[in-house]
Amino acid sequence: MSWLHDASKEILGRIQEVKEAKAWPFFRPMENVGSRVKVGSGSYVNFTSNDYLGLSRDPRVMKAGVKGIRDYGTGLGSARPQATSVRHEELERRLATWLGYEACMTFTTGYQSLVGTLSAFLDDDTTLILDRLCHASIMEGMFLARGEHPDMEVRFFKHNNMRLLEKCLRTSEYDKKMVVAEGYYSVDGDMGPLDDMVDLCKKYGAVLVLDDAHGLGALGPTGRGVGEIFGCQGDIDILIGTFSKSFGGIGGFVCADRDLVDFLMLKARSFMFSATLPVAQVEAALTALDIIENEPQHLRRLHRNGELFRAGLEDLGFDLGNSQGHITPIYLRDELLTMKFGAYLFHGGDIMMMPFISPGVPPGTERLRCNITAAHTRAEMSYALEALAKIGPMLEVLPEGTSTRASDLQRVGWLLQHKLRGVRNAGVPYLVNELSDSAQKAVDYGRRMLNGAHRQ
Ligand SMILES: Cc1ncc(COP(=O)(O)O)c(C=O)c1O
Repeated sequence: MSWLHDASKEILGRIQEVKEAKAWPFFRPMENVGSRVKVGSGSYVNFTSNDYLGLSRDPRVMKAGVKGIRDYGTGLGSARPQATSVRHEELERRLATWLGYEACMTFTTGYQSLVGTLSAFLDDDTTLILDRLCHASIMEGMFLARGEHPDMEVRFFKHNNMRLLEKCLRTSEYDKKMVVAEGYYSVDGDMGPLDDMVDLCKKYGAVLVLDDAHGLGALGPTGRGVGEIFGCQGDIDILIGTFSKSFGGIGGFVCADRDLVDFLMLKARSFMFSATLPVAQVEAALTALDIIENEPQHLRRLHRNGELFRAGLEDLGFDLGNSQGHITPIYLRDELLTMKFGAYLFHGGDIMMMPFISPGVPPGTERLRCNITAAHTRAEMSYALEALAKIGPMLEVLPEGTSTRASDLQRVGWLLQHKLRGVRNAGVPYLVNELSDSAQKAVDYGRRMLNGAHRQ
């Protein structure tokens, strides 16, 4: 035993209690992916994925990945300076054109894109201004830069608050200023007024870096993200995206002008000193981009699904904060309640929604994050709304007697579809489980009958 174990003990002890209460929602080992996932002998409707367009299971994207492995093997054996393929260059060219930039570079993850970009540009004479709810990878870029440049100034503004952003810009220590924000916030499902942010950056001579990990491919009339919604695509100095959400794979990318990208290729340490994105993922991303550009039906379906589910949640009376679009957080604002609700949905409803508690989100804003994708069927979403309508009153989140507008016939239909898809998704073990569950219920009912409990 060492001090390392002392440090681990307290947190592991707390987790053990949650595990014993069967409320531990993390690291569930899935045996497949999609809007339905198999875990153990169960089959669950999955609302935890960022695969917004459902492209990770698209046969063409998968086939492209396999081709990448055939052509280049499973990895390129080194970092980009020694391991750049023609396919990387093709993907970078395509992304730059798609988003209207001179140049683009790919990283092995989105996380590395942010850490590498921020730490490459910031120094002792810069002011970095961040939205208070920025993603961990942006914070890590800041920490890394500040370790090397302790005189750098870091300011935070209240989430999406342009008045306070302006205050930070007006009173900043240095002339060289960088503002970093997310386009579409991943756990809040909201977005700031990007056009105003662009204007403020111009007014105060600041550079704008936008991490639109959750917007690119998923938002805007053609999927070009939050910049497209606000009509200011060309005004974002550095635009960062990832292949791990709408593209259905893994990897990150940075778009900017040619000089900035050339500089970053030499200066971003997470690019220079980490292994190249495998060509399998490059090929998958290229095919995903083809689909995003040429098949708008997936985007339309995502938007339709988002609207449908959001309307259902609003109808039931859930608190959705300021969210809009396909990320629909259900705010419960209590740690225990959030964990409990997630566990009830999982064990009682065969539904996976991720509880977010502090320190992942600020105390008092605990929520279930619920992501809608183009792959969800109407039956899956309706079934989930029924489960939420049942569990909500049980946990006193919704008033007693709350129900959806569905008819009994519809409810039975969704339940049947849910069970059938369960059998298709998880096979014989699921069926056995379901049958023994029904048998157990019959036995319990029989026992209660004998005890006269049915009359109570
Ligand atoms: C807003 C945001 N930025 C960056 C990242 C990092 O991307 P990746 O998972 O591709 O490393 C994430 C991932 O969750 C994210 O939500």
